Amino acid sequence: MIDMKNLLAKVKQNDFTLGVIGIGRVGLPLALVFANSGVNVIGIDRNKEYVEKIKRGEKPFNEHGIEEYMKTKNFTPTANIKDGIEKSDILILTIGTPITEHMRPDYSQLRSAINSILDTSIKGKLIITRSTVSPGTVENFIKPLLEKKTGLKTGDDFGLSVCPERILEGKALEEIRNLPEIVGAVDEMSAEITSELFRKINKDKKIFVTTPKAAELAKLFTNVYRYINFALANEFGLLAEEYGEDAHEIINILNDGYSRGGVPVPGMTGGPCLSKDGYYLISNLMFPDFILTGWRLNESIPQHIVNRLKKRLSDKGKIIHDCKVCVLGLAFKAGIDDTRYSPAVRLVELLKIEAANVGVHDPYIEETDKLEDAVRDADAIILAVNHPKFDGVHKVIHKIGKHKPGCILVDCWGFINKDEARNLGFDYIRFGSGK
Ligand SMILES: NC(=O)c1ccc[n+]([C@@H]2O[C@H](COP(=O)([O-])OP(=O)(O)OC[C@H]3O[C@@H](n4cnc5c(N)ncnc54)[C@H](O)[C@@H]3O)[C@@H](O)[C@H]2O)c1
Repeated sequence: MIDMKNLLAKVKQNDFTLGVIGIGRVGLPLALVFANSGVNVIGIDRNKEYVEKIKRGEKPFNEHGIEEYMKTKNFTPTANIKDGIEKSDILILTIGTPITEHMRPDYSQLRSAINSILDTSIKGKLIITRSTVSPGTVENFIKPLLEKKTGLKTGDDFGLSVCPERILEGKALEEIRNLPEIVGAVDEMSAEITSELFRKINKDKKIFVTTPKAAELAKLFTNVYRYINFALANEFGLLAEEYGEDAHEIINILNDGYSRGGVPVPGMTGGPCLSKDGYYLISNLMFPDFILTGWRLNESIPQHIVNRLKKRLSDKGKIIHDCKVCVLGLAFKAGIDDTRYSPAVRLVELLKIEAANVGVHDPYIEETDKLEDAVRDADAIILAVNHPKFDGVHKVIHKIGKHKPGCILVDCWGFINKDEARNLGFDYIRFGSGK
């Protein structure tokens, strides 16, 4: 216990080093927020090329404000995992936890990071899991593993907690500072040190201390709840299409001035968290119906969009494999450049399966086509992502004039004013609307 009391004192005096293992979309912003709050941080990642890029001061992905945060002197990125871990007093795990092709949690990164920790001495250190994990992972898997391999005791010799990340990509830096933290600690001292640590970035931060399982469940249910709500909104979109009505218009009306509203509009739902977190929540259980139904529905929206497009093309006497289709947006959501689990990527794949000639433009992703090239000779344009930069894009496309007359414009988000689009000569279709 004396070791852990020492660690608490060191954290209070800001005389400690924080190691963040896995400096990806979550770990890098987290490490930088701590570093910009005066904490000495080592960013540890096994991807050497990626670490070199960060060392050169190049931002590895788009995240609002990250360039400024990267100028800090308190942050040292390293691919020397053992050295980084040895020098750290507190370790936060922010490695990836994707799903396997059989839709099971993939803990290979977690296992390898824990093995790296076990190559060093963990006495007197605190280990915090920030990655998204299934309920029970910290208590039933990480704790026994660490205790068995080291002969040390959690709470007395080393600390262990879980403090899940809940940020929205694109707003990560701001949200890391301001969002409340849910700390699930295996013992009281670990709870205290974890809370003290997070107060370094914001002394007024709200911190809830609970059990590790409750913290893991809270994280997963936050995302699953959102995901199922989006699935329900998508189902309503499909219903409205059947009835020849517009779900976007209806939802705007029903939400307006109604305090129990807050119904989301239909749209293509996906991304590395929402798409897979349900599988982490239910991975050991036998009653997955509700979550899987929501997943099936959300995952089928790209196919639905392709089907609607094919129908409209056929009404015009065209066949999709003779057509050029331009997809606007490839990221999994608005305002970011992350394409992991993106429904827009699925949409492009499906269009290619149909042998359509596909052009793709995403203003946030350099490797995609220029807008002019993507829309050149397009028979149809699909607005797949509601990026802020697409505000008024139909007018820009019309001005460029490189699409065919009567070009079909499929708006997956109800993002474009339909009357305006039709006045410009587009054959406008909106997902969630039969009008
Ligand atoms: N991306 C989000 O918006 C978000 C939000 C909340 C929670 N999460 C969760 O946070 C976790 C991290 O997600 P991410 O999007 O940052 O993933 P990521 O793939 O962007 O980053 C993971 C990083 O860990 C590194 N890594 C993997 N194994 C390693 C090891 N053994 N040692 C050292 N480095 C290793 C990888 O090289 C990579 O750079 C996941 O559990 C995810 O579900 C993500």
